[in-house]
Amino acid sequence: MTNQPGSANNATNRRALMKAGLAATGTVAVGAALSAAGLAPLAEAASSGLTRGDAAILRFLAALEILEADLWQQYNELGGVQDREVPGGSGSAGYTAAIQVLDTDMPQYIHDNTEDEISHFTFLNAYLMAKGAEPVDLKQFRTLKGSQATGAQKDTMRLTNLLQLTVDTSYWTRYRSRTQNPDPPFNDTFPPAIPGLLKGQFPAIPRTDDDLKGFVPGNPPTIPDHLQAIANTAGFHFGFIEQGGSSLYPALAQRVSSPEVLRILLSIGPTETMHFQTWHDKAGNALPLTDPTNGLMFPNLNAPPFGGEDFQTNLIMPEPTVFLNRKFPKVSIIRPTETRGAAMGALKALTDDGLFIGQSKEFFAVLSELARAADAAEPRD
Ligand SMILES: [Fe+2]
Ligand SMILES: [Fe+2]
Repeated sequence: MTNQPGSANNATNRRALMKAGLAATGTVAVGAALSAAGLAPLAEAASSGLTRGDAAILRFLAALEILEADLWQQYNELGGVQDREVPGGSGSAGYTAAIQVLDTDMPQYIHDNTEDEISHFTFLNAYLMAKGAEPVDLKQFRTLKGSQATGAQKDTMRLTNLLQLTVDTSYWTRYRSRTQNPDPPFNDTFPPAIPGLLKGQFPAIPRTDDDLKGFVPGNPPTIPDHLQAIANTAGFHFGFIEQGGSSLYPALAQRVSSPEVLRILLSIGPTETMHFQTWHDKAGNALPLTDPTNGLMFPNLNAPPFGGEDFQTNLIMPEPTVFLNRKFPKVSIIRPTETRGAAMGALKALTDDGLFIGQSKEFFAVLSELARAADAAEPRD
């Protein structure tokens, strides 16, 4: 990030705007809001205990954790455990039964993942404030209508959309490859495990009670294929989200200056990987089926034309692969971990996922600026 001539005055104004929550609307205000997010770190560099780079990284991570918490909250209201740790919603018997086909412990795992994300953004914001830096607040962007199915908090406005997702499941083959790596100098690409999830927009939670039609509670319950397909979509989406966090923390850790901020990233990041490993395992239990309402197909990943080590459902630990240079022996690693453009890449992946369908221009402007600032961070900046 470079300081621009004459920006000192503006920085004060922009900081004030940011404090006001970027509440103003209109073209001029959007520009000002955008600058506010970017210039706040400059203003803080002198007064806070953080370098501007560290503040920018922590702020971007806090924003993503707020978004993650928002999406997990929606899953928890319908398919998790609703309690004092993760309040809100009253559960959907049909959705919960469909999710439990992947593992009977799914409600507990969904609850715990949700609680973890809440703790992540709460901690990051508290740390920013303790260091005299601006925390992240996305409240003004809670504008999306969520599920209207019984069990959801129907009137709660959301930051993220789980009703029209396009889920990239290439993480599946990326972690199984023994010869390829998404990072430079290899820049390999990977086929999705569930090609259909990239070819449309699919709900990962019931949109209304119509999505639960045909469900009959019992032992075993009757779960129609459409409802099971929604639960399967969620199962693969969980893995998509958490593998993203597994990569983002090590990617950004390479740009951190302070040992304590590095410790924060190295302590939170691996919890994302613990989530990913769990979801990677559970997604493998998704039943092969075709959703009769939209043709979305979940193939049997253990049979041709799938099958083999690239798709085998119990092969959930990373296969050793090439890293840095082919002259080195293959090694089991998180992938990708390239630091250049990591924040913007994470934002693009979530956008392509459909999570922000319906969000405002201002939302994208603020998130892009937070990502740009984090990517511009340099150690000892
Ligand atoms: Fe997190
Ligand atoms: Fe996460």
